Amino acid sequence: MKKRNRLRTIFLILLLLLVAIQFLPVDRSTPALTPAQDFLAVMNSPGQLGPLIKDGCYDCHSHETEYPWYSYVAPVGQWLQGHIRKARKQVNFSVWTTYSTEDADHALKEIVEVVKEKEMPLKSFTWMHPEARLTDVQRTELATWFQGLRTGASDNNAEGNSDDEGNEEEGE
Ligand code: HEC
Repeated sequence: MKKRNRLRTIFLILLLLLVAIQFLPVDRSTPALTPAQDFLAVMNSPGQLGPLIKDGCYDCHSHETEYPWYSYVAPVGQWLQGHIRKARKQVNFSVWTTYSTEDADHALKEIVEVVKEKEMPLKSFTWMHPEARLTDVQRTELATWFQGLRTGASDNNAEGNSDDEGNEEEGE
């Protein structure tokens, strides 16, 4: 085969693969929402903080994900859904009241950390969602408020029980 023909064949195969993976299913289903279990519904956040949490965290850490158009394009959709699955496993605001006192306190502790350390929302998220970018002042306000919700329940109990469960990498 001539070099040009070979390149054309490779290109066509790649194109076909790209088209083919568009038909791979992505599970975007969620259980029905139970407002009485929702973090923001029960927590009475100060006016300006609720929207920050909703815009900044709920797309991944709740069952109220708003899927952008590019989440329907493979392999981006698979990549995003992976984030969402992992995020919900760590903290799911939609089922907040089902957490034990320890788990809730532990989650709050981690939340304070990731907000202060600017680990969340993920950079890849704020890149496409400018409304979710937090200023330093907003981060301080959020961290202070979350910190105030803590009961300390996860400190007393010898650390560890619920500590590492979320870190296991799950396969596809
Ligand atoms: C684009 C999706 C996305 C958004 C938006 C997002 N997170 Fe996350 N978050 C993740 C993923 C994915 C993980 C799991 C990371 C891992 O397992 O390595 C995670 C983990 C966490 C953890 C656990 C961290 C740890 O070290 O165990 C906390 C707490 C957290 N996020 C809080 C938040 C808060 C608060 C917001 C909003 C300010 C937020 N996240 C926004 C995707 C997101």
